[in-house]
Amino acid sequence: MSSPQQRGERVQGDSAATSPISSVSSMSGQRIVIVGGRRLEGVIPISGSKNAAVALMAGAILAAEGKTTLRNVPRISDIQTLADVLRHLGVTVSFSDDHRTATIDATRLVTHEAPAELVARMRASFWVLGPVLARLKRARIPQPGGCNIGARAIDLHIKGVEALGAKVEVGYGAVTAEAPGGLKGTSIYLDLPSVGATMNIMMAAALAEGTTIIENAAQEPDVEDLGNLLLAMGANISGHGTGMITIEGVSSLHGADYSVMPDRIEAGTYACMAAITGGDVLLQGANAAHLRPVLMKMAEAGIRTEEPEGGVRILGAQTRLRATRVIASPHPGFPTDVQQPFTAVLSLAEGTSVITDTVYESRFRYLTEMAKMGAKVDVEGRTAVITGVDRLTGSDVEATDLRAGAALIVAALAAEGRSRVFHTEHVERGYEGIVEKLSALGATIWREDENGRRVGGEALSLCA
Ligand code: EPZ
Repeated sequence: MSSPQQRGERVQGDSAATSPISSVSSMSGQRIVIVGGRRLEGVIPISGSKNAAVALMAGAILAAEGKTTLRNVPRISDIQTLADVLRHLGVTVSFSDDHRTATIDATRLVTHEAPAELVARMRASFWVLGPVLARLKRARIPQPGGCNIGARAIDLHIKGVEALGAKVEVGYGAVTAEAPGGLKGTSIYLDLPSVGATMNIMMAAALAEGTTIIENAAQEPDVEDLGNLLLAMGANISGHGTGMITIEGVSSLHGADYSVMPDRIEAGTYACMAAITGGDVLLQGANAAHLRPVLMKMAEAGIRTEEPEGGVRILGAQTRLRATRVIASPHPGFPTDVQQPFTAVLSLAEGTSVITDTVYESRFRYLTEMAKMGAKVDVEGRTAVITGVDRLTGSDVEATDLRAGAALIVAALAAEGRSRVFHTEHVERGYEGIVEKLSALGATIWREDENGRRVGGEALSLCA
């Protein structure tokens, strides 16, 4: 018997719920605890982009000679997971003492097979398909799992490498691609501007014979960052960051020294945290151009922003925020990864907001958790209707995925009383030092282990 929430029926936040301090929670595991109501004020350093960094690490596999140095790498567990995948392939990966610089030497690859347990842990491990196939003319990569936000197919990745001449078999939980005669440039049209598929095809085409044109390519800044690294490695590529990318294959690539771009999703998330608390926060190092869709939508809701040199400043609204319409879509549309945190902001706005996510089929599951805090939500398929409420109240809630966890923290920062966000391993894998960064802005926030004991800083220890 499904619950009203699971049936996507209107669920009312049970504002009469007793304080979570007395509520009996069936939840367990590590958690982040927040006591809401504090304005966030100060400067927050924005880390290197998680989604760009994992792509750049995969791209470094293409260097048959020399080492690649990646700077401004975020200190998150996803980076360590991908480093382990690369090491399995024979690549040497080492990090500076502060873990922000990675040195990658891919001159000696020892296998074309990626390890199943690591690929299952992180979808971006699948981005090694293109570079391994390009270097070794064959690759066997386990199929990445789906997750709480959707099926996350890989048919466009397969279509791309098949178009380049690879013979692909899918079976026994893995994708096997072989091109004994090497890859040949061609024109590829993507039915969807898939970020991962665009990246895999770019990397495979970089060493193909002849010219490859990718039409309807993903335009996310992360794709542009990868293209710029490939250029630095000696690739012949243009149009990256636009919907049409041209790659002239070359015979080999060499190492490079490159700095990862700032994380626009992290910046957008902290912008939501500043906005919902009526705070005044400088997102140090954020790239306003990458954040344009988010900043424009925030302005519609009454959130004031400034773009001083080297950052973006979010100024808390003097009056209650206004409801608005959000359509999450591929860049330069509103980023789906900020849809969840921004929806949390709109749960307290004046009026009714309508949010549609055109990228993922089920990225609203966390709203049932938001309802526990008093949010009024109605979900039908890819659209959520949020009726703004005057207040949210603290509750025990569960993070179902990375950005859902971030959204629940956004809400908890404004909720009255204490919230405990469980399963925050999802959150820590994508947001470097989130507890430390928010504490520095004045939030009352701490980590607890599964026994409810306060722990500090350990999450920055780079767990696998
Ligand atoms: C990247 O995932 C990001 N992850 C995602 O961020 C982000 O949400 C997404 O791009 C969209 O911007 C990384 O970069 C590691 P897609 P990716 O291929 O490449 C469908 C986060 O929170 N699709 O653009 O997997 C797919 O099912 C994560 O940091 C196919 O149908 O996204 C999805 O509905 C979450 N066939 C849509 O396209 C394919 O072959 C967008 O997927 C590939 C994708």
